[in-house]
Amino acid sequence: MSILTAPENNAPLQSLDEVEDFYKQRYPEPMTEEQKKPSIGTDPNKKVTEFRNYEADARPTVREFYRLNHAHQTYDFALAKRKEYLGLNRRQMSIWEAAEYLNQLVDDSDPDTDLSQLEHLLQTAEHLRADGKPRWMILTGFVHDLGKILCLWGEPQWAVVGDTFPTGCAYSQKIVFPRFFDANPDSQNARFQSRNGIYEEGCGLDAVNLSWGHDEYIYNVCKDYLPMEGLYMLRYHSFYPWHREGEYGHLLNDQDRKHLKDVHDFNPYDLYTKSHAKPDAKALRPYYEDLISEYFPTKVRW
Ligand SMILES: [Fe+2]
Ligand SMILES: [Fe+2]
Repeated sequence: MSILTAPENNAPLQSLDEVEDFYKQRYPEPMTEEQKKPSIGTDPNKKVTEFRNYEADARPTVREFYRLNHAHQTYDFALAKRKEYLGLNRRQMSIWEAAEYLNQLVDDSDPDTDLSQLEHLLQTAEHLRADGKPRWMILTGFVHDLGKILCLWGEPQWAVVGDTFPTGCAYSQKIVFPRFFDANPDSQNARFQSRNGIYEEGCGLDAVNLSWGHDEYIYNVCKDYLPMEGLYMLRYHSFYPWHREGEYGHLLNDQDRKHLKDVHDFNPYDLYTKSHAKPDAKALRPYYEDLISEYFPTKVRW
């Protein structure tokens, strides 16, 4: 039994990839330029049934994962995890060391067909590189899932992966499996269930306490080192209710609206490169060590 399926770890998924496979099931095609326009995601004519089909097709393990996620990701939980982790006092590691550390995360999936964590990072980054993207964006691709080391520090799957969503205000009905929020204590708190909840209209996402996961953590680790475009890609790559569904427009500020484009630009590299050939970590290491040293200090606080 691997660390990911230990019962005390609250781990319904056999592999973290199951959640990402589920994203691909929900969003089988990359967004078109037309769909990337903010108004499209909030199209009132889009039928509710379109949002239901993927639920019926979800694996039982994925369904159970979201049941736990929606029941336990409260406002207080997300705030407590920020306090626990964002002092970055756990250890000092280089970016490459963190990637190797994350790669210990072995799950019960098929090693012949599934990518390791390091392979997924390299594949994402290599695809960006092949498309001639800027160096900071290739590096963003390489680091984007390093926050999953939270799993190695005993966090349950539902507190590391899966779509993120704002806590402290009403849940969008376009979040996957919305009925599972009935079991979340916040759904009984009227203060948290109005449209804006505890937030000011247009307060900006930086002020919003999103559900806790690997995005917020890696954003904080990297925030002094990468450009704002890359930081948006890191911090919101799992915030599908915003970047794919166009929800929560009332919480955005001008900066968020400006950088949604960056999150859109990044998403296909994360989601749709998985079937490509496995990258050769040993051969690629010198290139990435060099790229890392261009932006990060030798040791980074985690
Ligand atoms: Fe991710
Ligand atoms: Fe990823």
